[in-house]
Amino acid sequence: MSRSAHPAGPRHADVLPEGHYTAPADDLNALDPKVWAHTVGRDADGVVTVGGIAVTQLAEEYGTPAYILDEADFRDRARAWRTAFGTDADVFYAGKAFLSRAVVRWLDEEGLNLDVCSGGELATALSAGMPAERIAFHGNNKSPGEIERAVRAGVGRIVLDSFQEIVRVAHAAESLGKRQRVQIRVTVGVEAHTHEFIATAHEDQKFGIPLADGQAAEAVRRALQLDGLDVIGIHSHIGSQIFDMSGFEVAAHRVVGLLKDVRDEHGVELAEIDLGGGLGIAYTSDDDPREPHEIAKALSEIVTRECEGARLRTPRISVEPGRAIVGPTAFTLYEVGTVKPLEGLRTYVSVDGGMSDNIRTALYDAEYSVALASRTSDAEPMLVRVVGKHCESGDIVVKDAFLPGDLAPGDLIAVPATGAYCRSMASNYNHAMRPPVVAVRDGAARVIVRRETEEDLLRLDVG
Ligand code: LLP
Repeated sequence: MSRSAHPAGPRHADVLPEGHYTAPADDLNALDPKVWAHTVGRDADGVVTVGGIAVTQLAEEYGTPAYILDEADFRDRARAWRTAFGTDADVFYAGKAFLSRAVVRWLDEEGLNLDVCSGGELATALSAGMPAERIAFHGNNKSPGEIERAVRAGVGRIVLDSFQEIVRVAHAAESLGKRQRVQIRVTVGVEAHTHEFIATAHEDQKFGIPLADGQAAEAVRRALQLDGLDVIGIHSHIGSQIFDMSGFEVAAHRVVGLLKDVRDEHGVELAEIDLGGGLGIAYTSDDDPREPHEIAKALSEIVTRECEGARLRTPRISVEPGRAIVGPTAFTLYEVGTVKPLEGLRTYVSVDGGMSDNIRTALYDAEYSVALASRTSDAEPMLVRVVGKHCESGDIVVKDAFLPGDLAPGDLIAVPATGAYCRSMASNYNHAMRPPVVAVRDGAARVIVRRETEEDLLRLDVG
């Protein structure tokens, strides 16, 4: 991501501190559609609205902090992925990004499948009525109980992640008198980072079975011999927040190489190839994500080309976007509690949430944008750090951003693109109560995940 070391000109202090921040936008009241959900705008009074509802009204009704999710935008993005991949490919929404029963129903209605990676996610999916055959079950250490439950429910595929699991799933299926459709997850030696990828000769991570040293071929060999398993394909997930398609190119090349070896050795052409998720979104105006149709076209061309080269029938492709669907659809609404200018440094803006509702800044040094949401302002921009109310100095929500210089306690600010991996990674640190998720659509708002209460906290504490 290109970040300028210094903004265009210091407007807040004579000397701006070292840091990686972009220049303040010309108009701090503007809402870049790249980072905000589709229906977000400002009303005549300058208040941010979503789905036709003012954030001031949402704050009054549901309190802050709160995740505000634009349902129409979620459905649009889900549909865009579904349409882009057409009927020859499958889109599995990665539930780890954010899962609730309402989301499961939206996905079902929009024709997407679902990737779950724990018994809890599976239970949520099933309880909301997602047909089991449209569920893929992931994880590097599924418990015997989780495996049994998934096989019994009839999930469409289990993605096998180790040699032990090949045997465990086969055993579970056989003892239930079933044959379980499985994919084998391989690590292809491509390590994708946020803005780069590094091709490595050896894998050094917990997921998947390495391809390079022949282990993946051995895994296929063993799985093909087991009566309880129907090996439908190979799975590869190369990383997260990826903008550059070349990592997928290398991954597809290597996976197709394995398909060819399998064909040559066993006379079996595996029918599917899953290229995982990881497609990037815009957290700030500097990020330029690709549209689903561009991604679908690129992946399909890559796989087709590789298969033609290997004289293989082109397998059915599947993908597992999580962030790219839900990430941009929500923002977190906070109330400003204190504003603390530190001369020659920056102004610390404390909000009523923090690392308990967004751990990504502390954990990954993630970058976010922020806007004054309850009003507009023509005040000069000031360099701020938006921090939470938790008891550590790393409790940062937005590391470096500009907000109007007249920002004051009681103002509402909104941090966009928090739909993915914020509520799903939220914690009760300092006994914070996790915020609600409020879905807004066509002028109506409803809570889809309610706010935790002190009662919830105390109920778990059984003394
Ligand atoms: N498929 C598999 C097998 C995965 O492991 C993941 C993410 C996905 C799909 C979805 O990836 P997405 O399209 O959402 O990037 N907590 C981190 C991200 C961890 C991703 C783990 N796996 C974050 O907040 O950035």
